[in-house]
Amino acid sequence: MKAKLLASVLLGCIASLSAADRGAQEGDPEIGQALFQAKMCNLCHTLAGESGPMANLGGSLDAVGQRRDAAWLRVYFTDPKAVIPTATMPPAELSATELRDMIAYLLSLR
Ligand code: HEC
Repeated sequence: MKAKLLASVLLGCIASLSAADRGAQEGDPEIGQALFQAKMCNLCHTLAGESGPMANLGGSLDAVGQRRDAAWLRVYFTDPKAVIPTATMPPAELSATELRDMIAYLLSLR
Protein backbone atom coordinates (compact mmCIF):
# COMPACT_ATOMS: atom_id res chain seq x y z
CA MET A 1 0.00 0.00 0.00
CA LYS A 2 2.78 2.38 0.99
CA ALA A 3 4.78 1.46 -2.09
CA LYS A 4 1.79 2.13 -4.29
CA LEU A 5 1.38 5.59 -2.77
CA LEU A 6 5.06 6.35 -3.23
CA ALA A 7 4.89 5.20 -6.82
CA SER A 8 1.96 7.47 -7.62
CA VAL A 9 3.66 10.44 -5.93
CA LEU A 10 6.78 9.79 -8.01
CA LEU A 11 4.77 9.45 -11.19
CA GLY A 12 3.07 12.74 -10.38
CA CYS A 13 6.46 14.43 -10.03
CA ILE A 14 7.71 13.02 -13.29
CA ALA A 15 4.54 14.16 -15.07
CA SER A 16 4.85 17.73 -13.79
CA LEU A 17 8.57 17.83 -14.56
CA SER A 18 8.03 16.84 -18.17
CA ALA A 19 5.21 19.39 -18.42
CA ALA A 20 7.63 22.12 -17.28
CA ASP A 21 10.18 20.83 -19.75
CA ARG A 22 7.69 21.00 -22.57
CA GLY A 23 6.86 24.57 -21.61
CA ALA A 24 10.52 25.51 -21.87
CA GLN A 25 10.77 23.79 -25.26
CA GLU A 26 7.94 25.83 -26.65
CA GLY A 27 9.08 29.11 -25.18
CA ASP A 28 7.09 31.84 -23.48
CA PRO A 29 5.75 34.49 -25.86
CA GLU A 30 5.37 37.02 -23.03
CA ILE A 31 9.04 36.75 -22.13
CA GLY A 32 9.82 36.97 -25.83
CA GLN A 33 7.88 40.20 -26.09
CA ALA A 34 9.87 41.68 -23.19
CA LEU A 35 13.10 40.51 -24.82
CA PHE A 36 12.10 42.22 -28.05
CA GLN A 37 12.20 45.50 -26.12
CA ALA A 38 15.22 44.62 -23.98
CA LYS A 39 17.37 43.56 -26.95
CA MET A 40 16.31 46.68 -28.84
CA CYS A 41 15.00 44.75 -31.81
CA ASN A 42 12.58 47.61 -32.34
CA LEU A 43 15.54 49.82 -33.32
CA CYS A 44 15.40 48.49 -36.89
CA HIS A 45 11.83 47.23 -37.06
CA THR A 46 8.24 48.37 -36.99
CA LEU A 47 5.81 46.39 -34.89
CA ALA A 48 2.19 47.17 -33.99
CA GLY A 49 2.56 50.75 -35.20
CA GLU A 50 5.78 51.45 -33.28
CA SER A 51 8.79 52.25 -35.44
CA GLY A 52 12.38 52.46 -34.25
CA PRO A 53 14.76 55.15 -35.55
CA MET A 54 16.12 52.77 -38.23
CA ALA A 55 12.87 50.91 -38.96
CA ASN A 56 13.44 51.41 -42.68
CA LEU A 57 16.30 48.86 -42.42
CA GLY A 58 14.42 45.86 -41.05
CA GLY A 59 10.86 46.80 -41.95
CA SER A 60 7.69 45.55 -40.34
CA LEU A 61 7.47 42.38 -38.26
CA ASP A 62 3.68 42.48 -38.17
CA ALA A 63 2.37 39.01 -39.03
CA VAL A 64 5.90 37.61 -39.28
CA GLY A 65 4.45 34.41 -37.75
CA GLN A 66 2.60 33.85 -41.03
CA ARG A 67 5.70 34.25 -43.17
CA ARG A 68 8.29 32.30 -41.16
CA ASP A 69 8.36 29.16 -39.05
CA ALA A 70 10.36 28.19 -35.96
CA ALA A 71 13.07 26.35 -37.89
CA TRP A 72 13.70 29.30 -40.23
CA LEU A 73 13.81 31.80 -37.35
CA ARG A 74 16.18 29.61 -35.35
CA VAL A 75 18.69 29.51 -38.21
CA TYR A 76 18.21 33.16 -39.09
CA PHE A 77 18.89 34.42 -35.55
CA THR A 78 22.01 32.30 -35.24
CA ASP A 79 23.41 32.90 -38.72
CA PRO A 80 21.28 35.34 -40.78
CA LYS A 81 23.30 34.83 -43.98
CA ALA A 82 22.55 31.09 -43.93
CA VAL A 83 18.95 31.79 -44.97
CA ILE A 84 19.25 35.28 -46.52
CA PRO A 85 22.64 35.49 -48.27
CA THR A 86 22.41 39.30 -48.43
CA ALA A 87 21.28 39.63 -44.78
CA THR A 88 22.46 42.72 -42.96
CA MET A 89 20.83 42.02 -39.60
CA PRO A 90 23.44 41.09 -36.98
CA PRO A 91 23.08 37.63 -35.35
CA ALA A 92 20.80 38.03 -32.32
CA GLU A 93 22.53 37.85 -28.95
CA LEU A 94 20.13 35.44 -27.27
CA SER A 95 20.71 32.46 -24.97
CA ALA A 96 19.10 29.14 -25.94
CA THR A 97 16.13 29.85 -23.65
CA GLU A 98 15.79 33.43 -24.85
CA LEU A 99 15.86 32.20 -28.44
CA ARG A 100 12.94 29.86 -27.72
CA ASP A 101 10.97 32.64 -26.02
CA MET A 102 11.67 35.09 -28.85
CA ILE A 103 10.60 32.56 -31.47
CA ALA A 104 7.40 31.80 -29.52
CA TYR A 105 6.65 35.52 -29.47
CA LEU A 106 7.33 36.09 -33.17
CA LEU A 107 5.24 33.06 -34.17
CA SER A 108 2.34 34.52 -32.18
CA LEU A 109 2.38 37.59 -34.46
CA ARG A 110 -0.20 36.71 -37.08
C1 HEC B 1 20.70 46.78 -37.00
C2 HEC B 1 19.31 46.64 -37.38
C3 HEC B 1 18.52 45.44 -36.87
C4 HEC B 1 18.34 45.03 -35.58
C5 HEC B 1 18.90 45.65 -34.30
C6 HEC B 1 17.45 43.90 -35.63
N1 HEC B 1 17.10 43.61 -36.93
FE1 HEC B 1 15.82 42.16 -37.56
N2 HEC B 1 16.21 42.64 -39.50
C7 HEC B 1 17.04 43.68 -39.92
C8 HEC B 1 17.11 43.66 -41.37
C9 HEC B 1 17.92 44.65 -42.21
C10 HEC B 1 16.29 42.59 -41.81
C11 HEC B 1 16.02 42.16 -43.28
C12 HEC B 1 16.82 40.91 -43.63
C13 HEC B 1 18.31 41.13 -43.47
O1 HEC B 1 18.90 41.96 -44.19
O2 HEC B 1 18.91 40.47 -42.59
C14 HEC B 1 15.75 41.97 -40.61
C15 HEC B 1 14.89 40.89 -40.62
C16 HEC B 1 14.33 40.31 -39.49
C17 HEC B 1 13.41 39.21 -39.50
C18 HEC B 1 12.86 38.50 -40.74
C19 HEC B 1 11.64 39.27 -41.16
C20 HEC B 1 10.91 38.64 -42.32
O3 HEC B 1 9.86 39.20 -42.67
O4 HEC B 1 11.34 37.64 -42.87
C21 HEC B 1 13.07 38.94 -38.22
C22 HEC B 1 12.11 37.88 -37.71
C23 HEC B 1 13.83 39.87 -37.38
N3 HEC B 1 14.57 40.69 -38.19
C24 HEC B 1 13.76 39.92 -36.02
C25 HEC B 1 14.61 40.69 -35.21
C26 HEC B 1 14.72 40.53 -33.78
C27 HEC B 1 13.93 39.57 -32.93
C28 HEC B 1 15.67 41.43 -33.36
C29 HEC B 1 16.24 41.61 -31.97
C30 HEC B 1 16.94 40.47 -31.41
C31 HEC B 1 16.12 42.16 -34.54
N4 HEC B 1 15.45 41.68 -35.64
C32 HEC B 1 17.04 43.19 -34.53
C33 HEC B 1 17.68 44.59 -39.12
C34 HEC B 1 17.74 44.52 -37.73
